[in-house]
Amino acid sequence: MSDVQLRVDNLWKTFHPGLFERAVEVLKGLSLEVERGEIFGFLGPNGAGKTTTIKAITGLVILDRGEISIGGHAHNSIQAKRLIGFMAENPYLYNHLTGREYLRFSAELLGVDGTEVEDRVAAVLRRVGMDTRADQKMSVFSKGMLQRIALAQALLGEPALLILDEPMSGLDPIGRRDVRDIILAQKERGVTVFFSSHIIPDVETVCDRVATVIDGSVREIGAVRDLLAREVERYEVTFTGLDPRVITTPLVSAQMGSDAAWVRVDAGERDALISELARQSARLVSLTPVRSTLEDLLMRQYEEGAAS
Ligand SMILES: Nc1ncnc2c1ncn2[C@@H]1O[C@H](COP(=O)(O)OP(=O)(O)OP(=O)(O)O)[C@@H](O)[C@H]1O
Ligand SMILES: [Mg+2]
Repeated sequence: MSDVQLRVDNLWKTFHPGLFERAVEVLKGLSLEVERGEIFGFLGPNGAGKTTTIKAITGLVILDRGEISIGGHAHNSIQAKRLIGFMAENPYLYNHLTGREYLRFSAELLGVDGTEVEDRVAAVLRRVGMDTRADQKMSVFSKGMLQRIALAQALLGEPALLILDEPMSGLDPIGRRDVRDIILAQKERGVTVFFSSHIIPDVETVCDRVATVIDGSVREIGAVRDLLAREVERYEVTFTGLDPRVITTPLVSAQMGSDAAWVRVDAGERDALISELARQSARLVSLTPVRSTLEDLLMRQYEEGAAS
């Protein structure tokens, strides 16, 4: 049975920047659903509308049209807001406070009971691996440490749905791995995670499902492996004893080295190519399937989006 934690239905948003500036149509019927307990990746090129969607979910952008519900509650209700933990794209943190002071202050704003604040702050600091470094001023923190404090802040209210806008951006590989581990640990605790990203390997390794957003609407949605399974499979074929320019089987690409040649064909042309090579007395050296990656899929979608 499906159990939807976040439902985003037919969002439309046009920004009107100023009297003499062109209106920008940013969201054009964007819809998606996130199941309870899954890690959901929201991918798309710059300006596709990811942050605008996230701001709409968190109530920071007023929609022209569309509906959003969280745990079955209208997204602007108190019940819905209590379910969300949110980290913004460029979180603003108070430099003159220590990490712990900032989180105490945030916990109080959230309405955490006074007697519980210290424990709650200590618990989220442990979860993001900052418990031993939280008493320094944030002005001396690295980008990775600031990102952890921002994540800790998003976790303060014990959210059922964690919404993160570009949580890995600007981090080095170790910082990215740490954020990935924190996200996975939340899933273990039963938290649903919805995050936007540009960083494809991060999305590929942690997400149960992804949606690709191009120009204000969702282009594709599904498990990474299902999206890739629909991609045309190709083969790379290496051989000697024949100039690839004489081959009549349709090729995707061809290259000639000093002794061998290698070409790529769509899966449907593979057998024809092998027969042709045999007929022409070429010697087959290798035949390798070329797995399509999420990056290939996105590049194709971005190019199609840019062309349309
Ligand atoms: N308040 C605003 N007023 C006018 N235009 C806006 C406003 N906010 C966003 N936009 C425009 O909406 C479009 C989508 O922006 P958005 O920030 O949602 O994209 P994004 O997918 O998050 O991109 P990025 O990957 O760069 O973060 C952009 O063209 C942006 O300039
Ligand atoms: Mg953005």
